[in-house]
Amino acid sequence: MSERARFVVVANRLPVDRITADDGSVDWRTSPGGLVTALEPVMRRMGGAWVGWHGASNETVEPFEHDGYSVIPVPLSGDEYEEYYEGFSNATLWPLYHDTVAFPEFHREWWDAYVTVNRRFAEATADVADDGATVWVQDYQLQLVPKLLREMRPDLRIGFFLHIPFPPTELFQQLPWRSDILEGLLGADLVGFQVPGGAQNFLRLVRQRTRHRVERDRVHVSGSHVCTARAYPISIDTHGFEELAQSPEVIAESESLLEELGHPKQIFLGVDRLDYTKGLRQRIRAMGELFEEGKLDPADTVFLQVATPSRERVEEYKRLRDDIDLLVGRINSEVGGVGRPAISYLHAGFPRATMAAMYRIADVMVVTPLRDGMNLVAKEYVACRPDTNGALVLSEFAGAAQELKQAYLVNPYDLNGMKDVLMQAATDSPRERQRRMRALKKQVRGSTIEHWADNFLGDLQG
Ligand code: ADP
Ligand code: G6P
Repeated sequence: MSERARFVVVANRLPVDRITADDGSVDWRTSPGGLVTALEPVMRRMGGAWVGWHGASNETVEPFEHDGYSVIPVPLSGDEYEEYYEGFSNATLWPLYHDTVAFPEFHREWWDAYVTVNRRFAEATADVADDGATVWVQDYQLQLVPKLLREMRPDLRIGFFLHIPFPPTELFQQLPWRSDILEGLLGADLVGFQVPGGAQNFLRLVRQRTRHRVERDRVHVSGSHVCTARAYPISIDTHGFEELAQSPEVIAESESLLEELGHPKQIFLGVDRLDYTKGLRQRIRAMGELFEEGKLDPADTVFLQVATPSRERVEEYKRLRDDIDLLVGRINSEVGGVGRPAISYLHAGFPRATMAAMYRIADVMVVTPLRDGMNLVAKEYVACRPDTNGALVLSEFAGAAQELKQAYLVNPYDLNGMKDVLMQAATDSPRERQRRMRALKKQVRGSTIEHWADNFLGDLQG
């Protein structure tokens, strides 16, 4: 790559995944997850370079241009895929940072791979960043990059944003490598979290575990620089989603979807990566009981649940997939409507336009994670629902609940409570639903991904 970039995003995932078919043909597909949904419009606006992994192991891919910015692929070997990505990132950090809703595993060789791969990302970034450039490192897979990068390139302005929760100090302290991770993050000039509680947890740990002086939200990193820690709740390209949902193609697609579902009177919708943090077991049980008890009638009500395959070789994810298949099968055999199942379960990813079509027709959107950094699905629904008749049921344990206070809030661990709120959302007067939805729309319009990026990058420069 001849030209160096003034602005560089560094994330484990590139915006597109390289897929090689059995016949050797190559295709590129939008990568899964909220990080890519959020950052893609930022990169289109800012230009520069995106450093990340292209989603396939044992393959080297040359840099290329995409949507007006440079894409710099970082390779992972098969072993690194297992130890850095599936292992330390997704079987140690992911469950630990999500309140141990699954049991985190600690393995020294996973940590070694994490260090190696973080160094590779830092080196690739040091190569591509122009003198004095701004670098924005993303998420839990790359927490060592800020420090490594500062050692290589002290001229850079370095930001870091954590898309997932930052755990309470008692949980974080379990990590045998806790000090390395804190020092890794402190290499940044600015560390951003989804909610104020995350920044507070981080600052408390820095006070307890390091010798650096902490003054409110500023850490004076000994002999070096000041690192500030604050909350920057992430959002979506609200206008982009609104426009998409009102396009003739999406309206047509939502009509054919309604047709396929048999024009039910009421549609409940769930949209998630198939992840144990999303509370799918509890949600499906609650919906199943409402059908079984006759509170919902499968003759006129459908629960559409879409789940994108995710991290499919990690044990906990395999178990979850089997559990959900069984649960849905059991409920559908017990409460089947005529010619149509009560739960329509789709284990697949869909184009964004199809997601917008689903959001358009959902009367009740059900977002019930056990723990979630933000949850963009909740915001996408609010942006895409064309009128104010829809209802959003939202877990208290999603970061989004701190902003979307007018949603129907639930504790997903409390099945009876959740069932009551689901029924309330479905049966409240149009006036009450509209009041809530109007407030939600105002919130999602007033705080977009552009505001998020401008706030963070403004503070990073300041
Ligand atoms: P996470 O980042 O943990 O996956 P978020 O709710 O923040 O959770 O973001 C999920 C993103 O993935 C959203 O942009 C959503 O539209 C998208 N998504 C989720 N499920 C699907 C699916 N089945 N097909 C396509 N996109 C999906
Ligand atoms: C969440 C994480 C992202 C991750 C995404 C998809 O949004 O915060 O960092 O990219 O899930 O997960 P995957 O493991 O497929 O990258």
